[in-house]
Amino acid sequence: MSAAAAVSSSSSPRRLEGKVALVTGGASGIGEAIVRLFRQHGAKVCIADVQDEAGQQVRDSLGDDAGTDVLFVHCDVTVEEDVSRAVDAAAEKFGTLDIMVNNAGITGDKVTDIRNLDFAEVRKVFDINVHGMLLGMKHAARVMIPGKKGSIVSLASVASVMGGMGPHAYTASKHAVVGLTKSVALELGKHGIRVNCVSPYAVPTALSMPHLPQGEHKGDAVRDFLAFVGGEANLKGVDLLPKDVAQAVLYLASDEARYISALNLVVDGGFTSVNPNLKAFED
Ligand SMILES: NC(=O)c1ccc[n+]([C@@H]2O[C@H](COP(=O)([O-])OP(=O)(O)OC[C@H]3O[C@@H](n4cnc5c(N)ncnc54)[C@H](O)[C@@H]3O)[C@@H](O)[C@H]2O)c1
Repeated sequence: MSAAAAVSSSSSPRRLEGKVALVTGGASGIGEAIVRLFRQHGAKVCIADVQDEAGQQVRDSLGDDAGTDVLFVHCDVTVEEDVSRAVDAAAEKFGTLDIMVNNAGITGDKVTDIRNLDFAEVRKVFDINVHGMLLGMKHAARVMIPGKKGSIVSLASVASVMGGMGPHAYTASKHAVVGLTKSVALELGKHGIRVNCVSPYAVPTALSMPHLPQGEHKGDAVRDFLAFVGGEANLKGVDLLPKDVAQAVLYLASDEARYISALNLVVDGGFTSVNPNLKAFED
């Protein structure tokens, strides 16, 4: 078979058939959208989250309260034993681990004056957004290295490439996710394991919607959020939704991205790459 034929024959409508994935923070928001999309594409999925009830509801809503193809495991990503146990639970139940999605994250409190910065809050943000993702990489690698394959995808943010898109600690933590991605990709490349991250612009979820400025609340939380971020966006006429971020994660998780590693895939409609102050293309 030619190399071109080998690549095209690997693309199927169910792009994760036969794969096993673990999604941290899979009980809500972007993580939930990833879980649902992965299931549509044939993956067996382990949801790892601190929200037990919401996580079990997602599993049950996928018609799998028996846990045949979807598993829920209580997991606080800041606790190494929890992360280790979740990875082992997925591998024992489904036979392997092909895809690790480090999605769980928080923004931390909004602080507009650095003199009021609370370092307990800063540590909490780093514990979840940086240490939690590094623990996910460590324990996924433990299971993936013997199999000489795997894909690790972490959720960064547009705050990984610019300031002003979240609190200081959040911005620093997301820059750190990109650094971790590159560093771990370098180490794991020799084992055939790809390590990437995805950086979305603002998506309406429980994490982002509380940050809508007070004056922008008109009555419908999701619509008000989309109207506000749509106004600031570069790409008009389309709303960025959790499912769009899930599509980017699906690509990196799938064999279609088999030669992509150490990438920060920015899903922002050009937001971080253009300067809106330039008037050259205005009518
Ligand atoms: N929503 C956005 O606009 C946006 C933009 C860019 C990046 N992101 C990133 O996407 C990821 C998902 O965010 P979201 O918007 O879906 O948020 P969300 O709050 O809707 O979901 C986050 C999930 O993570 C879980 N979680 C929180 N702390 C945890 C912990 N210690 N251990 C395990 N699970 C934990 C929560 O229970 C929740 O289910 C985050 O890393 C976030 O930084 C979000």
